[in-house]
This record gives sequence, structure tokens and C-alpha cells, in this order.
Amino acid sequence: MEKLVIEKSKNINGEVDISGSKNSSLPIIASTLIHGGNYKIHNVPEISDVLTMLKLIKQLGGNYDFQNNKLEIDTENINSFEAPYELVKTMRASVLVWGSLLSRFNRAKISFPGGCAIGDRPVDQHIKSFESLGYETEINQGYLETKKKGVSGGIFNFDFKSVTGTENAILASIKADRETILKNCAQEPEVFDLINFLNSLGANIKIYKDEITIKPTTSLKQREKLYSVIPDRIETGTFLILGLIPGNRIKINKTNPSHLEEPLKILKGMGAKIIVEKDTIELSNNGDLKPFDIKTDPYPGFPTDLQAQFMISAILANGSSTIEETVFPSRFIHVAELRKLGAEIRVKEAKAHITGKTTMKGARIQASDLRASASLVLGAIIAEGRSEISRIYHLDRGYEKIDDKLTKLGVPNWREKE
Ligand code: EPZ
Repeated sequence: MEKLVIEKSKNINGEVDISGSKNSSLPIIASTLIHGGNYKIHNVPEISDVLTMLKLIKQLGGNYDFQNNKLEIDTENINSFEAPYELVKTMRASVLVWGSLLSRFNRAKISFPGGCAIGDRPVDQHIKSFESLGYETEINQGYLETKKKGVSGGIFNFDFKSVTGTENAILASIKADRETILKNCAQEPEVFDLINFLNSLGANIKIYKDEITIKPTTSLKQREKLYSVIPDRIETGTFLILGLIPGNRIKINKTNPSHLEEPLKILKGMGAKIIVEKDTIELSNNGDLKPFDIKTDPYPGFPTDLQAQFMISAILANGSSTIEETVFPSRFIHVAELRKLGAEIRVKEAKAHITGKTTMKGARIQASDLRASASLVLGAIIAEGRSEISRIYHLDRGYEKIDDKLTKLGVPNWREKE
């Protein structure tokens, strides 16, 4: 395994190009299983989660060519409806093939996805939505076996917002026998990117606030030359924080500011200087930063995927901040590692209280999940001296070429064998 060595970086003054969204690419790739065809998708980030999903497509009988962020997938010869344990255990998002395989084969066999560092990850909403759409699920030897029973399609009201739950229900409705209406759906930009991709293939999906209607279609065919995935809003939010360090300035290119309204509101409230244009955000700070209070919420609320990173913003602020995690209440595994750098953080009932302006010193720390590892990278950049972040493969799941991007910004970093 590898560790990432990072040294304190002063006066970051540079630009970074944001990659395509991981959480858009994964459901879009899964959706190509619904109907055998050839699909060209652009701006796909070369990250390990995408490579895992492509491995799964290949395992199911598909083929692909992926270079320079351009992906061509051929799903004519998909010949299996089983997502095996070996792949699902490495990436929970493999469950996204579940809905597509139901549309393709009226059945699917998915290894039960386990929990992870951010908490228990149940799939009851996926199962319940499939049931209301005419598919029944049994659990056999650690596998979820779902089969069509009766007329497919129908109405389902989610008990609460679930991103991949919503996406899976959409994917399972595309070729249903009748129209589907989904209520209380997740409204993340990545859900709408999946819908836009499917509609570009000839699907008939309409959105009205958090209600999504899917009229069945018999075939999906790529009409435009290729489809471009939206920029990664979480990568954007992660890099913006570097501009908060006093004396720093960062310009984020190839992003979509409209996907970050809540995080930008917090950063503005702290006193950062922010210039927003069509697909760029510039952030700098020359003065004291005010503390803040955040509560994570489903979109358009503050994203849980930026919760860990914003703890670093709180450490840079003058005073105490709070961050309440309502989506994954136990998503605080990064706190123990940040304390090793000198952070003063107290967690009580899913609410973290962070003291600002603490002295941070480099240390040996350990990554545990994707977004926590991003928070440790930011912590290492503001800490005095050198830090070593072990198990850095977590970071590579969702941040494309992060070493190069940090080096270009003037952050001394390199990898070593653990
Ligand atoms: C998606 O996960 C994202 N992953 C996550 O990003 C993100 O943190 C999460 O949405 C919330 O925004 C992908 O899109 C691939 P949920 P998902 O279903 O769909 C509970 C990252 O770092 N729940 O919206 O799995 C669940 O436990 C990853 O990129 C049930 O109880 O999340 C959580 O508490 C991490 N039953 C809440 O709902 C269910 O059937 C929201 O989960 C489904 C979810």
C-alpha cells in the first residue's frame, strides 16, 4: 500500500481544472446495461471507482475503451445479471447495476453491499421501491435476488431521500410495463445528470420538484455524438478550501458554481473573497475568517460529502464552529486523525464542535474513506512540517490525479511505500 507525504504549503496561488463527477459517472455507466448498444461518454474521471464499475460491466459481458476521460461502452453482449461479492465489497456503488439489470433481464442477483467507514449502508429503500414497481427480492446466502412478479412500473413514495435509491428506481422503470411515478426523490445534480443522459438516449423522464415520472421506452439509442458528465462539485468544494489559507488564492476551472450554492454561502459568510463566473470560481482570503454553523442535508442542503473537508475551514476560522451530520450520523472517523494534527474537535450526538486557530503540526495519520482522506490532505497542507497519510488508496477512489493537481498548486507532495 502507499502513503502520501505532504509538507506545509504557504501562499498557494494557482488554478485547478475540475474532473467529471464520480457520482454522475457511476450511475450513467450502470445505465448503459439497460439496452444493448454502443455509448460514448466524455469527461469521465479516471479514478478507481470508475475502473471498478467498468470491471463489473466487463464481468457482465460488456466491453469498453477508456482513455483521456473519453469512455466508449459496448453492452450488446451483456450475458449475466449477477453482481459478484468480490466487486460489490470493494465498491458499494456497484448496487447501481441492480436497477439496470432488472430493466434488461427482469431479474438481478446482487451481492449484499456491506457497511463502510461512514456507517451502516442499508438498501431497504431500494428493495421497497422495487417491490412497488413489481419486483420481489429474496435474500439468499448474502445475495439479493430480485425478480419481476406481475406488472412492472407503478408508484413509490420514498420514506426519505436516497441518492442511489432514487437512481436505482429510475433505472428499473425504464422498460417497465407501465408509467412509474417516484415521490420524495433525491434531487442531487448527479441524479439529474443520469436523467439527462437517459433522455438523450430517448428515454422519457420528467422531473417536477422531488417527483420523477418515467414513461416506459422499448429502446435506448445514443443520438448525440457523445454525452459529457457534469463537473465534480465535491472535488470543487474540496479545492476551494485551499483558498481560505491566509494569503492564498485559488481559481477553480471547468466547474459548475450553481451546484455549490450552500458551500459558497458558508465560505462567503466566513469572509472569503469569491468571484463566480460561468464555469469558474476564484477564492482568496487576506483577513480573519468568521466561524460558522453547518447542518448537512440532502441536496440542495449542505452536502454530507463536504462535511469532513469543511472541518478544516473551521480550524482556519477565528472562533468556534459547529457541523451537524444528519445524513450519515456516524461520519466522524476523520476527527480522531485530525486531532493527531492538533485539531480541537468535540463530537456530541452527531454534532462536531470545532475550535478555530489551533496550532496544527504534521503527523502520521490514516485515511479511512474517500472524503475523510480529502480532509486529512487539507489538514496536512495547513499543518507545520511534514505529514504522512497512509492507506491513500481511499483518496484515489474519487480524486483524479490529485498529486499532480496539488503539485501544480505549489503543495509539496509525493508517494512512498507504506
Ligand atoms: C450517495 O450514496 C453517494 N454515493 C454518497 O457519496 C453520498 O454521501 C450519499 O449519496 C449522500 O449524498 C454515490 O452517489 C455513488 P443515500 P447513497 O442512499 O446513495 C440511508 C462519496 O463519497 N439509507 O442517499 O448510498 C443511508 O444509510 C459517497 O462519493 C437507508 O437507510 O446514500 C444514509 O444514512 C459517500 N436505506 C441516508 O439514507 C436505503 O435504502 C442517505 O443515503 C438507502 C439509504
